[in-house]
Amino acid sequence: MASGGYPYEDKLDGDIYEAQMYELQKQLVMLQAHLAASGERIMIVFEGRDAAGKGGTIKTYLENLNPRYNLIAALPKPNDRERTQWYFQRYVDWFPAAGETVLFDRSWYNRAGVEKVMGFATPEQTEHFLEEAPEFEKRITRDGIHLFKFWLSIGREMQLKRFHDRRHDPLKVWKLSPIDIEALHKWDAYTEARDEMLKRTDCPHAPWTVIRANDKRRGRINVIQTVLGKLDFPGKDKKAIGEVDPKITYQAEDFLK
Ligand code: ADP
Ligand code: AMP
Ligand code: MLT
Repeated sequence: MASGGYPYEDKLDGDIYEAQMYELQKQLVMLQAHLAASGERIMIVFEGRDAAGKGGTIKTYLENLNPRYNLIAALPKPNDRERTQWYFQRYVDWFPAAGETVLFDRSWYNRAGVEKVMGFATPEQTEHFLEEAPEFEKRITRDGIHLFKFWLSIGREMQLKRFHDRRHDPLKVWKLSPIDIEALHKWDAYTEARDEMLKRTDCPHAPWTVIRANDKRRGRINVIQTVLGKLDFPGKDKKAIGEVDPKITYQAEDFLK
């Protein structure tokens, strides 16, 4: 649990987690009703190392929501045609319409992370991306879309443990890819890429929220609290939502200190 400077020794008690998650999911259902009524739109970007828990967090967020209006965008690697397009283009196809929430399981930030570290993008392409991303996101927020960006942070031992669990679990083995195995040896390169990405793309209109995610339960709670805390909707219950845990949830600049 403690790898990567994780602040707790144990995971959050299951009963406490269930009770708190129930309250949060009730609030998400109210948020969903508000989005339907107002036509507001939400985009949530989930980034993090392999096995950080992006997929599981998204699944928990969506558990009690209408799949028609709450969508996952998990794009595969770009095909030959997409490779020749404007880099952001294929992501734009997935942007929300009125009342919709789109959760991105990985995103355009691939260019600053896996593509950089694994050599799928040239240094020039990554540099160009780091300049463009804040401008791209400015267009999104200017249009009135609520944009959230989460970096789920895990320690090296936790990553190794999860890879191990995935390899030996017939229901999870599909989550393990050759890229993941490579990532084990490229821990430091990923760290460096992450830090530069956070530094250069954290901006007032589109800030990063870093979540310490060794404990999936605390991580999921803090992600949902962050979203609910920032938005206004009828039935919003600040007490039910609670405050994010400052040992789990960080603004990028504090995380980088
Ligand atoms: P995931 O962790 O999302 O389950 P992988 O670990 O296999 O999937 O890959 C990580 C990311 O790297 C994915 O977003 C994938 O699309 C991207 N990727 C893999 N190969 C390439 C490639 N040749 N060019 C660009 N991106 C790639
Ligand atoms: P999962 O994909 O949720 O089944 O979890 C993958 C691995 O991470 C499992 O082997 C768990 O033991 C471990 N894990 C999940 N949640 C926690 C947690 N809250 N604290 C510590 N380890 C966890
Ligand atoms: C995650 O755990 O972050 C996602 O399932 C993605 C992955 O592990 O590659």
